[in-house]
Amino acid sequence: MEEELINLQTNASSLIISTDDAEELEKIREDFLGKDGSLTDAIKRIGKLPQESRPEIGKLANEIKNTIEDLISHKLKSKKINTGPAKRSKKIDVTMPGQALPLGHLHLITQGIEEITNIFEHIGFTRVRYPEVEWDWYAFTALNFPENHPARDDWETFFVKEEPHPKNGQMVLTPHTSSGQIREMEKGELPIKMLNVAKCYRRQSDVSHVPMFHQFEGLVVGENISITHLKGVLDYFFKSYLGEKRKFRIRPYHFQFTEPSFEIDVSCGVCNGRGCKLCKAGWLELGGAGMVHPNVLKNGGIDTKKYTGFAFGWGVERVLMMKEDLALEDLRILYSNDLRFLEQF
Ligand code: DAH
Repeated sequence: MEEELINLQTNASSLIISTDDAEELEKIREDFLGKDGSLTDAIKRIGKLPQESRPEIGKLANEIKNTIEDLISHKLKSKKINTGPAKRSKKIDVTMPGQALPLGHLHLITQGIEEITNIFEHIGFTRVRYPEVEWDWYAFTALNFPENHPARDDWETFFVKEEPHPKNGQMVLTPHTSSGQIREMEKGELPIKMLNVAKCYRRQSDVSHVPMFHQFEGLVVGENISITHLKGVLDYFFKSYLGEKRKFRIRPYHFQFTEPSFEIDVSCGVCNGRGCKLCKAGWLELGGAGMVHPNVLKNGGIDTKKYTGFAFGWGVERVLMMKEDLALEDLRILYSNDLRFLEQF
């Protein structure tokens, strides 16, 4: 019996020492000293012991009972004891309203890309993806840029420090989606109705330029393709994307890879064509377009006697800015990861 009592004390003290939790301490008290507690049970059995050992064992049992009581109340008074809300929250009140988890959403640019893709897919274009790290051949030479011609400078290209490829030349970060034109032609599947949406890279950064941005490139190659088809596609795109009210115009321009080449302007949605800080004269310059230069078709392995084509390449960020409801004054905010901005969309 003596041994049993000492074991009970050892167990109780080690349990008390190892917890800082008020509820657990109360449970220890109940387990040892409660009505059916193990020490209470031992004390009840003292009456059955031989008369002569009863006083001594009784005294020991009482001391142990007091020790356990003292240890528990001492611990309960100590500052470390945890009775706070963390403990209480363990109890779940199923009648409380649930907590809604914060839901994210697609980035504005991704939303734009999806909308643009849907519009073009609707009239039979297929979205493709080509490498972001490209060869000079695809980005420039095959697009009718004479070798080492300064026209490459207009694209403010990032050149990659790599051994040049024997046929394809220098490695570059693709500066425009036009490099996808030759890759698409190389597939040898005609007619072509390609939509290449991709990241592009140029050494530039100001209110209307970022070093990494997105372009979408359309390429249509087939029999009897003419400028009227290009105009029809532009018309359909602007009406679908910007609404019926906005106007666009085609201006003669020069690109190496199209002949004739155009620049496309869209009437400004911020000032409705009156002229403002964003557009200056009422028109926003959107990007290029034109009839694919025969040399480009040849470089892509296409029979120029049988086929012609048109192409256009525009910035996703730029067309986003042209949405009437999105008068962005500084393009860089799109990439600033500022939730106060992003959560508005
Ligand atoms: N690649 C040109 C640029 O980044 C844009 C462009 C112009 C694309 C004319 C075209 C085009 O497809 O026909 O500035």
